[in-house]
Amino acid sequence: MANNKTGFTSSLGVVLAAAGSAVGLGNIWRFPYICGKYGGAACLVVYLAFVFLIGMVLLMTEFVIGRRSRHAPEKAFPTLCPKHPSWKWVGLFGMFSCFLILTIYLVISGWTVGYFWESLTGTLAAIPNDGFKEHFDAFASSTWKPVVFLIVFLVINLLVILGGVQKGIEKVSKLLMPILLILVLALCVRSLTLPGASKGLDYLFHPDFSLLNWEGILAILGQALFSLSVGMGTMIVYGSYIPNESNILKTATWITVCDVCIAVLAGIAIFPAVFAAGQSPAGGPGLVYQVLPLVFNSMGKVGMVFAILFFLLLSMAALTSSISLLETLTAWLSDRGMKRNRAALIVSVLVALLAIVAAYSFTGGPLSGITPGGKNLFDWIDRLTGAYLPPMGALATIIFLGWVMKREDIRDELSNHGTLRIAWFPVFYNILVRFLAPLALLVVLVAGIMGV
Ligand code: TRP
Repeated sequence: MANNKTGFTSSLGVVLAAAGSAVGLGNIWRFPYICGKYGGAACLVVYLAFVFLIGMVLLMTEFVIGRRSRHAPEKAFPTLCPKHPSWKWVGLFGMFSCFLILTIYLVISGWTVGYFWESLTGTLAAIPNDGFKEHFDAFASSTWKPVVFLIVFLVINLLVILGGVQKGIEKVSKLLMPILLILVLALCVRSLTLPGASKGLDYLFHPDFSLLNWEGILAILGQALFSLSVGMGTMIVYGSYIPNESNILKTATWITVCDVCIAVLAGIAIFPAVFAAGQSPAGGPGLVYQVLPLVFNSMGKVGMVFAILFFLLLSMAALTSSISLLETLTAWLSDRGMKRNRAALIVSVLVALLAIVAAYSFTGGPLSGITPGGKNLFDWIDRLTGAYLPPMGALATIIFLGWVMKREDIRDELSNHGTLRIAWFPVFYNILVRFLAPLALLVVLVAGIMGV
């Protein structure tokens, strides 16, 4: 399917589009609250180890599979190993996961666009300091607000996808990613200059390992993979759009560094401000919507400007990621022969339906009574897609690379048919891909699921 005519035009385009996929709600909404829950810097240390030793290896793995096969995941695996066509199930598992992630992504993005709107119109500024939790609950459980904003967000996504890979995804990423970096930096400067900011930095950079348990380690591993968009086939699809002359190691390194930097910068933008306003860092998923508006309000007039910038930043980060999810599903169906626009439309309608159901499952919402195992539907999907599905998909994908694909094919792909020197290949292949990454994934997954 994808060749250089329909794929990305340059290595820079690849880096920005894939970094756009990686940098998302995971970095700005989820990373700080996971950090808050599992010991601040202790979490950061484990996170960095997972990102570089496992996440980045997976990113390269998916790029190799995508570019070598030039197919979406369902066909990519069997194309590279025609003897065992049942590997296509790993690809299909990824499609299932992407669908679920896109659902909760739409719900949270809907809130974010809603909060952006409310910060623009002054609604947020008018809320008394003790009213933010209530406001969020009322917003999330309203019957129309989350749905309207979610649909607005989805339509923007759809327009980008209909624009195509080069004129839609690549263009939007090239425009939004630099703006996003500037916005995060501006927020960091403001946050760091608040009185009492150093407490937040202490929190983020002084490790407390007592808060780390196996459940936490699994959540952090899940987060590391989720954040790099690996384990679900998205990067296989983007890999299939990578030009032949791009250097996969370099590309993956840039993407990983961007992703980690934005997550850490988001932490630096958020925690000092949270401490300066006398709030708790362990605010959970509501941190961004219940605690931050309060922080912004306590900054006076300029705070409202920051609220607008922050929710704009979050909406943009969410957009480049949800585009990649919608693109994965669209590319999958079009790889099976469906017309691209039609595929995008069908996926959008289906995902919107499930997203609305998930949005209605919040406290006070029409479906909030349905809570199997004490969790509502949104929490179930969030938990599944955040902690469990990415490591499972990642494990299968890396086993495919290390034990099923031909070693020579991998070497050939990573060295661009022998034109690049890749002295690191034996370490990468014999240690990381075949043993370290799969073993680590397996141990953390099993220990996490058994709740050791
Ligand atoms: N990486 C994105 C984030 O951090 C989420 C995301 C986009 C994703 N595409 C994905 C996660 C594919 C897993 C698989 O928010």
